[in-house]
Amino acid sequence: MSQHIFQRASCNRSLMIDPVYQDSSPNALLYRILADYECLLAERNCLEGELENTQKEVTALKTALNHSTLVRIHLEHEMLSSIQERYEQITQILEQTEAKTKSLIQAIPDLMFCVNSERIVVDYYPDKQELHFLETENVIGKKIQDVFPQDLATWTEYYLKITLETGEVQMGEYVVKGDDKWHHYEARYVKSGKDEVLAIVRDITQRKQAEANLRVSEIQERERALQLEKTLKDLQQAQAQLIQAEKMSSLGQMMTEIAHEIKNPISSIYGNLTYIDQDIQTLMELFKLYQQNYPEPLPEIQEFITASDVNTIINELPQSVEFMRLGANRLYDLALSLRNFSRLDSQEMVSADLHIGLDGTLKILHNQLKSKGNHAEIEVIKDYGELPLVKCYPNQLNQVFMNLLANAIDALENQPVPRKIIIKTDICKRHPDFLVEDAIRISISDNGPGIPKSVQDQIFNPFFTTKPMGKGTGLGLSIAHQIIVEKHQGRLKCTSQEGQGTTFEIILPLGELFQARK
Ligand SMILES: Nc1ncnc2c1ncn2[C@@H]1O[C@H](COP(=O)(O)OP(=O)(O)O)[C@@H](O)[C@H]1O
Ligand SMILES: [Mg+2]
Repeated sequence: MSQHIFQRASCNRSLMIDPVYQDSSPNALLYRILADYECLLAERNCLEGELENTQKEVTALKTALNHSTLVRIHLEHEMLSSIQERYEQITQILEQTEAKTKSLIQAIPDLMFCVNSERIVVDYYPDKQELHFLETENVIGKKIQDVFPQDLATWTEYYLKITLETGEVQMGEYVVKGDDKWHHYEARYVKSGKDEVLAIVRDITQRKQAEANLRVSEIQERERALQLEKTLKDLQQAQAQLIQAEKMSSLGQMMTEIAHEIKNPISSIYGNLTYIDQDIQTLMELFKLYQQNYPEPLPEIQEFITASDVNTIINELPQSVEFMRLGANRLYDLALSLRNFSRLDSQEMVSADLHIGLDGTLKILHNQLKSKGNHAEIEVIKDYGELPLVKCYPNQLNQVFMNLLANAIDALENQPVPRKIIIKTDICKRHPDFLVEDAIRISISDNGPGIPKSVQDQIFNPFFTTKPMGKGTGLGLSIAHQIIVEKHQGRLKCTSQEGQGTTFEIILPLGELFQARK
Protein backbone atom coordinates (compact mmCIF):
# COMPACT_ATOMS: atom_id res chain seq x y z
CA MET A 1 0.00 0.00 0.00
CA SER A 2 1.74 3.10 -1.11
CA GLN A 3 -1.26 5.37 -0.71
CA HIS A 4 -0.34 8.24 1.61
CA ILE A 5 -2.48 9.15 4.56
CA PHE A 6 -2.54 12.83 3.62
CA GLN A 7 -3.88 12.45 0.17
CA ARG A 8 -6.61 15.01 0.00
CA ALA A 9 -10.12 13.90 0.65
CA SER A 10 -13.01 15.62 -1.04
CA CYS A 11 -14.45 16.94 2.13
CA ASN A 12 -16.44 19.92 3.20
CA ARG A 13 -13.89 22.08 5.03
CA SER A 14 -16.35 24.07 6.99
CA LEU A 15 -17.56 20.88 8.67
CA MET A 16 -14.11 19.64 9.51
CA ILE A 17 -13.55 21.69 12.66
CA ASP A 18 -14.90 19.74 15.51
CA PRO A 19 -16.51 22.30 17.86
CA VAL A 20 -15.12 20.42 20.87
CA TYR A 21 -11.66 20.74 19.43
CA GLN A 22 -11.91 24.50 19.51
CA ASP A 23 -12.42 24.28 23.19
CA SER A 24 -10.13 26.06 25.67
CA SER A 25 -7.65 23.16 25.91
CA PRO A 26 -6.70 22.48 22.28
CA ASN A 27 -3.28 21.13 23.22
CA ALA A 28 -4.73 18.33 25.33
CA LEU A 29 -7.08 17.39 22.53
CA LEU A 30 -4.30 17.56 19.98
CA TYR A 31 -2.17 15.21 22.03
CA ARG A 32 -5.08 12.82 22.33
CA ILE A 33 -5.67 12.89 18.59
CA LEU A 34 -1.97 12.35 17.99
CA ALA A 35 -1.94 9.33 20.30
CA ASP A 36 -4.96 7.88 18.47
CA TYR A 37 -3.23 8.61 15.23
CA GLU A 38 -0.10 6.73 16.26
CA CYS A 39 -2.17 3.68 17.28
CA LEU A 40 -3.89 3.76 13.96
CA LEU A 41 -0.58 3.92 12.12
CA ALA A 42 0.65 0.84 13.99
CA GLU A 43 -2.61 -0.98 13.37
CA ARG A 44 -2.46 -0.10 9.72
CA ASN A 45 1.14 -1.29 9.34
CA CYS A 46 0.19 -4.59 10.95
CA LEU A 47 -2.84 -5.03 8.72
CA GLU A 48 -0.84 -4.11 5.66
CA GLY A 49 1.67 -6.87 6.53
CA GLU A 50 -1.08 -9.38 7.01
CA LEU A 51 -2.70 -8.38 3.76
CA GLU A 52 0.56 -8.78 1.94
CA ASN A 53 0.99 -12.32 3.36
CA THR A 54 -2.54 -13.28 2.40
CA GLN A 55 -1.95 -12.03 -1.13
CA LYS A 56 1.19 -14.17 -1.30
CA GLU A 57 -0.76 -17.21 -0.07
CA VAL A 58 -3.46 -16.63 -2.71
CA THR A 59 -0.83 -16.38 -5.46
CA ALA A 60 0.84 -19.59 -4.20
CA LEU A 61 -2.48 -21.43 -4.10
CA LYS A 62 -3.40 -20.23 -7.56
CA THR A 63 -0.10 -21.69 -8.87
CA ALA A 64 -0.65 -24.92 -6.94
CA LEU A 65 -4.16 -25.22 -8.37
CA ASN A 66 -2.79 -25.32 -11.86
CA HIS A 67 -0.84 -28.52 -11.01
CA SER A 68 -3.08 -30.46 -8.59
CA THR A 69 -5.32 -33.40 -8.85
CA LEU A 70 -9.12 -33.05 -8.63
CA VAL A 71 -9.24 -33.95 -4.89
CA ARG A 72 -6.55 -31.50 -4.08
CA ILE A 73 -8.29 -29.05 -6.36
CA HIS A 74 -11.43 -29.39 -4.26
CA LEU A 75 -9.59 -29.09 -0.95
CA GLU A 76 -7.50 -26.22 -2.08
CA HIS A 77 -10.57 -24.52 -3.52
CA GLU A 78 -12.11 -24.62 -0.04
CA MET A 79 -8.93 -23.17 1.43
CA LEU A 80 -8.97 -20.56 -1.30
CA SER A 81 -12.51 -19.46 -0.37
CA SER A 82 -11.61 -19.21 3.30
CA ILE A 83 -8.51 -17.22 2.45
CA GLN A 84 -10.61 -15.07 0.12
CA GLU A 85 -13.03 -14.47 2.98
CA ARG A 86 -10.20 -13.48 5.33
CA TYR A 87 -8.79 -11.22 2.62
CA GLU A 88 -12.11 -9.44 2.31
CA GLN A 89 -12.39 -9.05 6.08
CA ILE A 90 -8.91 -7.59 6.31
CA THR A 91 -9.59 -5.26 3.40
CA GLN A 92 -12.74 -4.07 5.17
CA ILE A 93 -10.90 -3.45 8.44
CA LEU A 94 -8.19 -1.66 6.56
CA GLU A 95 -10.76 0.56 4.87
CA GLN A 96 -12.31 1.36 8.23
CA THR A 97 -8.89 2.22 9.64
CA GLU A 98 -8.21 4.47 6.65
CA ALA A 99 -11.58 6.18 7.11
CA LYS A 100 -10.87 6.69 10.80
CA THR A 101 -7.42 8.11 10.05
CA LYS A 102 -8.90 10.49 7.51
CA SER A 103 -11.57 11.71 9.90
CA LEU A 104 -8.89 12.28 12.52
CA ILE A 105 -6.80 14.26 10.10
CA GLN A 106 -9.85 16.27 9.16
CA ALA A 107 -10.60 16.94 12.81
CA ILE A 108 -7.28 18.72 13.13
CA PRO A 109 -7.78 22.27 11.92
CA ASP A 110 -4.06 22.99 11.65
CA LEU A 111 -1.77 23.02 8.68
CA MET A 112 -0.01 19.65 8.33
CA PHE A 113 2.72 18.36 6.12
CA CYS A 114 5.00 15.37 5.95
CA VAL A 115 8.67 15.74 5.14
CA ASN A 116 11.03 12.88 4.55
CA SER A 117 14.70 12.66 5.39
CA GLU A 118 15.46 13.93 1.85
CA ARG A 119 13.67 17.15 2.94
CA ILE A 120 10.98 16.53 0.36
CA VAL A 121 7.41 17.41 1.26
CA VAL A 122 5.57 14.16 0.70
CA ASP A 123 2.23 15.40 1.79
CA TYR A 124 0.61 18.71 2.52
CA TYR A 125 -2.70 19.57 4.10
CA PRO A 126 -3.59 23.29 4.40
CA ASP A 127 -5.14 24.53 7.58
CA LYS A 128 -8.93 24.73 7.79
CA GLN A 129 -8.98 28.49 8.27
CA GLU A 130 -7.14 28.88 4.98
CA LEU A 131 -4.59 31.20 6.48
CA HIS A 132 -1.88 29.62 4.38
CA PHE A 133 -1.61 30.37 0.80
CA LEU A 134 0.56 27.56 -0.53
CA GLU A 135 -1.33 25.35 -2.95
CA THR A 136 -1.02 21.60 -2.32
CA GLU A 137 0.01 20.96 -5.93
CA ASN A 138 2.84 23.50 -5.55
CA VAL A 139 4.23 21.89 -2.43
CA ILE A 140 4.00 18.10 -2.67
CA GLY A 141 7.12 16.50 -4.10
CA LYS A 142 9.18 19.68 -3.67
CA LYS A 143 12.12 20.29 -1.36
CA ILE A 144 11.32 22.46 1.62
CA GLN A 145 13.99 24.99 0.55
CA ASP A 146 12.06 25.50 -2.67
CA VAL A 147 8.68 26.19 -1.10
CA PHE A 148 9.35 27.78 2.27
CA PRO A 149 11.10 31.09 2.97
CA GLN A 150 14.82 30.62 3.70
CA ASP A 151 14.75 30.93 7.52
CA LEU A 152 11.58 28.85 7.85
CA ALA A 153 13.15 26.12 5.70
CA THR A 154 16.31 26.09 7.86
CA TRP A 155 14.19 25.99 10.97
CA THR A 156 12.06 23.11 9.64
CA GLU A 157 15.19 21.22 8.62
CA TYR A 158 16.59 21.59 12.12
CA TYR A 159 13.44 20.14 13.71
CA LEU A 160 13.23 17.39 11.06
CA LYS A 161 16.73 16.30 12.06
CA ILE A 162 16.11 16.26 15.83
CA THR A 163 12.74 14.55 15.48
CA LEU A 164 14.23 11.77 13.32
CA GLU A 165 17.20 11.39 15.69
CA THR A 166 15.29 11.37 18.97
CA GLY A 167 11.94 9.99 17.87
CA GLU A 168 10.36 12.41 20.32
CA VAL A 169 7.73 15.07 19.67
CA GLN A 170 9.40 18.47 19.18
CA MET A 171 7.78 21.85 19.60
CA GLY A 172 8.73 25.32 18.48
CA GLU A 173 7.27 28.74 17.81
CA TYR A 174 8.09 31.09 15.01
CA VAL A 175 6.93 34.35 13.50
CA VAL A 176 6.36 34.97 9.81
CA LYS A 177 5.16 38.09 8.05
CA GLY A 178 2.25 37.37 5.75
CA ASP A 179 -0.51 39.54 4.28
CA ASP A 180 1.19 42.60 5.84
CA LYS A 181 0.81 41.24 9.33
CA TRP A 182 3.07 39.25 11.57
CA HIS A 183 1.78 35.78 12.31
CA HIS A 184 2.78 33.67 15.26
CA TYR A 185 2.96 29.92 14.67
CA GLU A 186 3.36 26.97 16.95
CA ALA A 187 4.70 23.83 15.26
CA ARG A 188 4.83 20.23 16.50
CA TYR A 189 7.00 17.61 14.84
CA VAL A 190 6.13 13.93 15.20
CA LYS A 191 8.03 11.01 13.72
CA SER A 192 5.43 9.38 11.46
CA GLY A 193 7.53 6.77 9.68
CA LYS A 194 11.08 5.42 9.53
CA ASP A 195 12.37 8.48 7.74
CA GLU A 196 9.38 10.75 7.76
CA VAL A 197 8.20 13.50 10.04
CA LEU A 198 4.72 14.93 10.37
CA ALA A 199 4.58 18.65 11.12
CA ILE A 200 1.44 20.16 12.62
CA VAL A 201 1.45 23.95 12.45
CA ARG A 202 -1.03 26.18 14.18
CA ASP A 203 -1.56 29.90 13.80
CA ILE A 204 -1.49 31.20 17.38
CA THR A 205 -1.48 34.91 16.50
CA GLN A 206 -4.84 35.49 18.17
CA ARG A 207 -3.79 33.63 21.31
CA LYS A 208 -0.53 35.60 21.46
CA GLN A 209 -2.43 38.82 20.94
CA ALA A 210 -4.87 37.87 23.69
CA GLU A 211 -1.95 37.00 25.99
CA ALA A 212 -0.27 40.32 25.21
CA ASN A 213 -3.56 42.17 25.81
CA LEU A 214 -3.98 40.30 29.07
CA ARG A 215 -0.47 41.28 30.14
CA VAL A 216 -1.15 44.92 29.23
CA SER A 217 -4.43 44.93 31.14
CA GLU A 218 -2.73 43.21 34.08
CA ILE A 219 -0.12 45.98 34.15
CA GLN A 220 -2.84 48.60 33.88
CA GLU A 221 -4.78 46.94 36.70
CA ARG A 222 -1.66 46.85 38.86
CA GLU A 223 -0.99 50.53 38.14
CA ARG A 224 -4.57 51.37 39.00
CA ALA A 225 -4.30 49.38 42.25
CA LEU A 226 -1.06 51.20 43.13
CA GLN A 227 -2.70 54.53 42.37
CA LEU A 228 -5.66 53.60 44.56
CA GLU A 229 -3.35 52.49 47.34
CA LYS A 230 -1.48 55.79 47.12
CA THR A 231 -4.72 57.78 47.15
CA LEU A 232 -5.86 55.82 50.19
CA LYS A 233 -2.56 56.49 51.95
CA ASP A 234 -2.76 60.20 51.08
CA LEU A 235 -6.30 60.30 52.40
CA GLN A 236 -5.32 58.57 55.62
CA GLN A 237 -2.37 60.93 55.99
CA ALA A 238 -4.61 63.94 55.41
CA GLN A 239 -7.11 62.58 57.90
CA ALA A 240 -4.38 61.95 60.46
CA GLN A 241 -3.04 65.45 59.88
CA LEU A 242 -6.47 66.95 60.41
CA ILE A 243 -7.06 64.99 63.59
CA GLN A 244 -3.61 65.82 64.88
CA ALA A 245 -3.91 69.48 63.91
CA GLU A 246 -7.28 69.66 65.65
CA LYS A 247 -5.93 67.85 68.69
CA MET A 248 -2.79 69.95 68.84
CA SER A 249 -4.57 73.21 68.40
CA SER A 250 -7.07 72.55 71.21
CA LEU A 251 -4.35 70.95 73.33
CA GLY A 252 -2.02 73.84 72.56
CA GLN A 253 -4.66 76.38 73.51
CA MET A 254 -5.41 74.54 76.72
CA MET A 255 -1.73 74.24 77.57
CA THR A 256 -1.15 77.95 76.93
CA GLU A 257 -4.05 78.81 79.20
CA ILE A 258 -2.92 76.41 81.94
CA ALA A 259 0.64 77.69 81.63
CA HIS A 260 -0.63 81.25 81.98
CA GLU A 261 -2.87 80.36 84.93
CA ILE A 262 -0.05 78.57 86.74
CA LYS A 263 2.67 81.07 85.93
CA ASN A 264 1.14 84.09 87.67
CA PRO A 265 0.36 82.51 91.07
CA ILE A 266 3.67 80.65 90.99
CA SER A 267 5.50 83.90 90.28
CA SER A 268 3.75 85.45 93.24
CA ILE A 269 4.49 82.40 95.50
CA TYR A 270 8.10 82.36 94.33
CA GLY A 271 8.50 86.11 94.79
CA ASN A 272 6.88 86.06 98.26
CA LEU A 273 8.99 83.09 99.34
CA THR A 274 12.05 85.37 99.40
CA TYR A 275 10.23 87.77 101.76
CA ILE A 276 8.93 84.89 103.86
CA ASP A 277 12.46 83.55 104.13
CA GLN A 278 13.74 86.96 105.27
CA ASP A 279 10.80 87.39 107.67
CA ILE A 280 11.41 83.97 109.17
CA GLN A 281 15.08 84.85 109.63
CA THR A 282 14.05 88.06 111.42
CA LEU A 283 11.55 86.27 113.64
CA MET A 284 14.10 83.59 114.49
CA GLU A 285 16.67 86.22 115.46
CA LEU A 286 14.05 87.87 117.64
CA PHE A 287 13.30 84.50 119.25
CA LYS A 288 17.03 83.91 119.90
CA LEU A 289 17.30 87.41 121.43
CA TYR A 290 14.41 86.59 123.76
CA GLN A 291 16.08 83.31 124.76
CA GLN A 292 19.39 85.12 125.47
CA ASN A 293 17.80 87.93 127.47
CA TYR A 294 15.17 85.86 129.26
CA PRO A 295 16.86 82.48 129.83
CA GLU A 296 14.20 81.63 132.46
CA PRO A 297 10.83 82.16 130.71
CA LEU A 298 7.56 82.06 132.57
CA PRO A 299 6.27 78.48 133.16
CA GLU A 300 3.35 79.06 130.75
CA ILE A 301 5.79 80.04 127.93
CA GLN A 302 8.16 77.19 128.77
CA GLU A 303 5.24 74.72 128.58
CA PHE A 304 4.20 76.03 125.16
CA ILE A 305 7.81 75.79 123.86
CA THR A 306 8.04 72.15 124.97
CA ALA A 307 4.54 71.11 123.81
CA SER A 308 4.90 72.69 120.30
CA ASP A 309 8.44 71.42 119.80
CA VAL A 310 9.45 74.94 118.87
CA ASN A 311 13.15 74.06 118.77
CA THR A 312 12.56 71.47 115.99
CA ILE A 313 10.42 73.98 114.09
CA ILE A 314 13.23 76.52 114.31
CA ASN A 315 15.72 73.95 112.99
CA GLU A 316 13.53 72.69 110.12
CA LEU A 317 11.92 75.92 108.99
CA PRO A 318 14.77 77.09 106.69
CA GLN A 319 14.80 73.64 105.02
CA SER A 320 11.03 73.69 104.49
CA VAL A 321 11.27 77.10 102.89
CA GLU A 322 14.05 75.79 100.67
CA PHE A 323 11.83 72.83 99.58
CA MET A 324 9.03 75.27 98.82
CA ARG A 325 11.40 77.36 96.75
CA LEU A 326 12.54 74.28 94.77
CA GLY A 327 8.95 73.16 94.20
CA ALA A 328 7.84 76.59 93.10
CA ASN A 329 10.89 76.81 90.87
CA ARG A 330 9.98 73.54 89.19
CA LEU A 331 6.39 74.62 88.74
CA TYR A 332 7.55 77.84 87.16
CA ASP A 333 9.87 75.90 84.81
CA LEU A 334 7.07 73.56 83.90
CA ALA A 335 4.75 76.44 83.12
CA LEU A 336 7.44 77.90 80.85
CA SER A 337 7.99 74.54 79.12
CA LEU A 338 4.26 74.15 78.58
CA ARG A 339 4.07 77.59 77.06
CA ASN A 340 7.07 76.96 74.82
CA PHE A 341 5.78 73.59 73.77
CA SER A 342 2.38 74.81 72.76
CA ARG A 343 3.45 78.12 71.30
CA LEU A 344 1.95 78.35 67.83
CA ASP A 345 4.64 78.09 65.18
CA SER A 346 5.21 81.06 63.03
CA GLN A 347 5.05 80.59 59.25
CA GLU A 348 8.79 81.12 59.04
CA MET A 349 11.45 78.81 60.35
CA VAL A 350 13.30 80.14 63.37
CA SER A 351 16.73 79.35 64.83
CA ALA A 352 16.40 77.06 67.79
CA ASP A 353 18.50 75.10 70.22
CA LEU A 354 17.26 71.55 69.92
CA HIS A 355 18.62 70.63 73.36
CA ILE A 356 16.22 73.15 74.93
CA GLY A 357 13.38 71.45 73.07
CA LEU A 358 14.49 68.02 74.27
CA ASP A 359 14.91 69.19 77.90
CA GLY A 360 11.55 70.96 77.88
CA THR A 361 9.84 67.81 76.59
CA LEU A 362 11.56 65.74 79.29
CA LYS A 363 10.28 68.18 81.91
CA ILE A 364 6.71 67.74 80.71
CA LEU A 365 7.17 63.97 80.81
CA HIS A 366 8.88 64.10 84.24
CA ASN A 367 5.98 62.46 86.05
CA GLN A 368 5.86 59.51 83.67
CA LEU A 369 9.58 58.88 84.12
CA LYS A 370 9.34 58.69 87.93
CA SER A 371 9.01 55.39 89.76
CA LYS A 372 5.37 54.44 90.23
CA GLY A 373 3.96 51.60 92.33
CA ASN A 374 6.25 48.68 91.74
CA HIS A 375 7.66 50.19 88.54
CA ALA A 376 11.18 51.54 89.00
CA GLU A 377 12.16 54.95 87.72
CA ILE A 378 13.12 55.25 84.03
CA GLU A 379 16.68 56.49 83.80
CA VAL A 380 17.24 59.10 81.11
CA ILE A 381 20.82 59.26 79.87
CA LYS A 382 21.62 62.40 77.94
CA ASP A 383 24.59 62.15 75.64
CA TYR A 384 24.41 65.58 74.05
CA GLY A 385 27.01 66.64 71.51
CA GLU A 386 27.77 70.18 70.38
CA LEU A 387 24.95 71.33 68.15
CA PRO A 388 24.61 74.60 66.29
CA LEU A 389 21.37 76.55 66.38
CA VAL A 390 19.10 75.04 63.76
CA LYS A 391 16.61 76.81 61.58
CA CYS A 392 13.45 74.80 62.06
CA TYR A 393 9.89 74.75 63.30
CA PRO A 394 10.81 74.17 66.97
CA ASN A 395 7.28 73.49 68.13
CA GLN A 396 6.86 70.74 65.55
CA LEU A 397 10.21 69.21 66.48
CA ASN A 398 9.12 69.28 70.15
CA GLN A 399 6.06 67.35 69.10
CA VAL A 400 8.30 64.75 67.43
CA PHE A 401 10.47 64.46 70.58
CA MET A 402 7.30 64.12 72.64
CA ASN A 403 5.87 61.35 70.41
CA LEU A 404 9.14 59.37 70.38
CA LEU A 405 9.78 59.75 74.12
CA ALA A 406 6.17 58.88 74.97
CA ASN A 407 6.47 55.72 72.85
CA ALA A 408 9.73 54.79 74.62
CA ILE A 409 8.06 55.29 78.02
CA ASP A 410 5.10 53.13 76.91
CA ALA A 411 7.52 50.45 75.68
CA LEU A 412 9.29 50.37 79.05
CA GLU A 413 6.06 50.10 81.03
CA ASN A 414 6.35 46.45 82.00
CA GLN A 415 10.08 46.07 81.55
CA PRO A 416 12.37 44.93 84.37
CA VAL A 417 15.10 47.22 85.71
CA PRO A 418 17.25 48.81 84.47
CA ARG A 419 14.74 50.79 82.38
CA LYS A 420 16.66 53.24 80.25
CA ILE A 421 16.15 55.90 77.62
CA ILE A 422 19.27 57.23 75.93
CA ILE A 423 19.12 60.52 74.04
CA LYS A 424 22.17 61.13 71.89
CA THR A 425 22.83 64.13 69.70
CA ASP A 426 25.72 64.81 67.36
CA ILE A 427 26.67 66.09 63.96
CA CYS A 428 27.38 63.43 61.41
CA LYS A 429 29.76 64.41 58.69
CA ARG A 430 28.55 63.64 55.21
CA HIS A 431 25.74 61.37 56.29
CA PRO A 432 25.10 58.73 53.60
CA ASP A 433 21.49 59.91 53.33
CA PHE A 434 22.68 63.39 52.40
CA LEU A 435 25.60 62.88 50.11
CA VAL A 436 26.99 66.38 50.17
CA GLU A 437 25.70 67.76 53.43
CA ASP A 438 26.50 67.30 57.07
CA ALA A 439 23.54 66.49 59.23
CA ILE A 440 22.31 66.69 62.78
CA ARG A 441 21.51 63.35 64.34
CA ILE A 442 19.24 62.89 67.32
CA SER A 443 18.69 59.35 68.44
CA ILE A 444 16.26 58.21 71.08
CA SER A 445 16.80 54.63 72.25
CA ASP A 446 15.06 52.49 74.80
CA ASN A 447 15.80 49.03 76.16
CA GLY A 448 12.16 47.98 75.81
CA PRO A 449 10.82 44.82 74.17
CA GLY A 450 11.53 46.02 70.61
CA ILE A 451 9.20 45.98 67.62
CA PRO A 452 8.41 42.63 65.97
CA LYS A 453 9.86 42.37 62.44
CA SER A 454 6.39 41.62 61.07
CA VAL A 455 5.08 45.09 61.99
CA GLN A 456 8.22 47.18 61.54
CA ASP A 457 7.19 48.40 58.10
CA GLN A 458 3.75 49.44 59.33
CA ILE A 459 4.60 51.59 62.34
CA PHE A 460 4.70 54.82 60.32
CA ASN A 461 1.25 54.16 58.82
CA PRO A 462 -1.44 56.48 60.14
CA PHE A 463 -3.68 54.73 62.69
CA PHE A 464 -1.36 51.76 63.12
CA THR A 465 -1.19 50.92 66.79
CA THR A 466 -0.59 47.83 68.91
CA LYS A 467 -1.80 49.59 72.03
CA PRO A 468 -5.20 49.02 73.61
CA MET A 469 -8.20 51.19 72.72
CA GLY A 470 -8.02 54.53 74.41
CA LYS A 471 -4.27 54.36 74.86
CA GLY A 472 -2.91 54.33 71.33
CA THR A 473 -4.11 56.39 68.39
CA GLY A 474 -1.49 55.21 65.94
CA LEU A 475 -0.82 58.82 64.92
CA GLY A 476 2.43 59.62 66.77
CA LEU A 477 4.93 58.12 64.37
CA SER A 478 3.02 59.02 61.24
CA ILE A 479 2.95 62.70 62.31
CA ALA A 480 6.59 62.56 63.42
CA HIS A 481 7.55 61.13 60.03
CA GLN A 482 5.67 63.84 58.23
CA ILE A 483 7.22 66.63 60.30
CA ILE A 484 10.77 65.33 59.82
CA VAL A 485 10.54 64.25 56.19
CA GLU A 486 8.15 66.76 54.64
CA LYS A 487 8.58 69.84 56.81
CA HIS A 488 12.31 69.54 57.47
CA GLN A 489 13.53 67.43 54.51
CA GLY A 490 15.10 65.02 56.97
CA ARG A 491 14.89 61.31 57.67
CA LEU A 492 13.27 59.36 60.47
CA LYS A 493 14.55 55.82 60.84
CA CYS A 494 13.70 53.02 63.18
CA THR A 495 15.96 50.14 64.09
CA SER A 496 14.64 47.61 66.49
CA GLN A 497 15.67 44.23 67.76
CA GLU A 498 13.11 42.11 69.51
CA GLY A 499 14.04 41.62 73.16
CA GLN A 500 16.78 44.28 72.93
CA GLY A 501 15.14 47.62 72.34
CA THR A 502 14.36 50.28 69.79
CA THR A 503 16.16 53.31 68.40
CA PHE A 504 14.57 56.13 66.45
CA GLU A 505 17.04 58.28 64.60
CA ILE A 506 16.16 61.76 63.40
CA ILE A 507 18.47 63.10 60.73
CA LEU A 508 18.19 66.78 59.84
CA PRO A 509 20.35 67.97 56.97
CA LEU A 510 22.38 71.03 57.82
CA GLY A 511 23.16 72.81 54.59
CA GLU A 512 20.95 75.86 54.48
CA LEU A 513 19.63 75.10 57.94
CA PHE A 514 23.07 75.55 59.37
CA GLN A 515 23.25 78.53 61.68
CA ALA A 516 26.09 80.34 63.42
CA ARG A 517 27.04 78.91 66.78
CA LYS A 518 25.53 80.58 69.81
N1 LIG B 1 9.92 52.56 71.23
C1 LIG B 1 9.05 51.64 70.82
N2 LIG B 1 9.12 50.35 71.24
C2 LIG B 1 8.24 49.42 70.81
N3 LIG B 1 7.22 49.66 69.95
C3 LIG B 1 7.09 50.91 69.48
C4 LIG B 1 7.98 51.97 69.88
N4 LIG B 1 7.60 53.09 69.23
C5 LIG B 1 6.54 52.76 68.49
N5 LIG B 1 6.21 51.46 68.63
C6 LIG B 1 5.13 50.72 67.93
O1 LIG B 1 4.63 51.54 66.90
C7 LIG B 1 3.21 51.68 67.01
C8 LIG B 1 2.81 53.03 66.47
O2 LIG B 1 3.27 54.08 67.28
P1 LIG B 1 2.55 55.48 67.23
O3 LIG B 1 2.39 55.90 65.81
O4 LIG B 1 3.25 56.42 68.14
O5 LIG B 1 1.09 55.16 67.76
P2 LIG B 1 0.62 54.78 69.24
O6 LIG B 1 1.73 55.14 70.20
O7 LIG B 1 -0.60 55.62 69.44
O8 LIG B 1 0.33 53.32 69.21
C9 LIG B 1 2.95 51.48 68.50
O9 LIG B 1 1.62 51.06 68.73
C10 LIG B 1 3.97 50.41 68.86
O10 LIG B 1 3.50 49.14 68.49
MG1 LIG C 1 2.73 56.96 70.12
